[in-house]
Amino acid sequence: MYAYLKLLHVTLAIVSVSGFMRRAWWSVNESPLLKTRFARTAPHVVDTFFLLAGIAMIWIASLPVLSTPWLLAKFAGLVVYVLVGTVAIKRGKTREIRLMASILAVGVFAWVVGISIRKSPLSWLTPMVG
Ligand code: HEM
Repeated sequence: MYAYLKLLHVTLAIVSVSGFMRRAWWSVNESPLLKTRFARTAPHVVDTFFLLAGIAMIWIASLPVLSTPWLLAKFAGLVVYVLVGTVAIKRGKTREIRLMASILAVGVFAWVVGISIRKSPLSWLTPMVG
C-alpha cells in the first residue's frame, strides 16, 4: 500500500509541475487558454490528491512530522511553491514579474524534490554518505 501511495505521490508531483509549467507559459504569453475551466480546476484536483497521498504515507508509516526536519522543510517548500506560483499565474502584474516568479517556482519545486530524495532540508546539497 505504501509503495502504491509513493508511486501516486511521485506521479502526481510530475503531473503537478508539468501542468504548472504549461500554465506559467500561458501566463507569461497572456494566452486565453489560461482562463479555460479545465486550466483553472484541474490543478486543484491534482494537487489535492498529491497532498493526500503524502499525508497518507505519513499516517501509515506513523512518521513523527515535528521531529522530522525533511518533512517540515517539505511543507515549507510547498507553501513557498504555492505562493510564488500564484504570482506566476495570477498575481504578477507584468509579464517580466510572472516570468521571474515562474522560474523561481520551478526552482523551489526542484529543491523540494531534492529534499524528498535526500531526506534532508539541504536538498541536493546534502553530502553523500557511504
Ligand atoms: C512540492 C512538493 C513536493 C514534492 C516535489 C515531493 C516529491 C517527492 C518525491 C520525489 C518523493 C520520492 C522520494 C524517493 O523516492 O526517494 C517523495 C516522497 C514522499 N513525500 Fe513528497 N513531495 C512534495 C510534498 C510533500 C508533502 C506536502 C508531503 C506531506 C504531506 C510529502 C510526503 C512525502 C512522504 C511521506 C514521502 C515518502 C518518503 C519515503 O518513504 O521514501 N511530500 N516526495
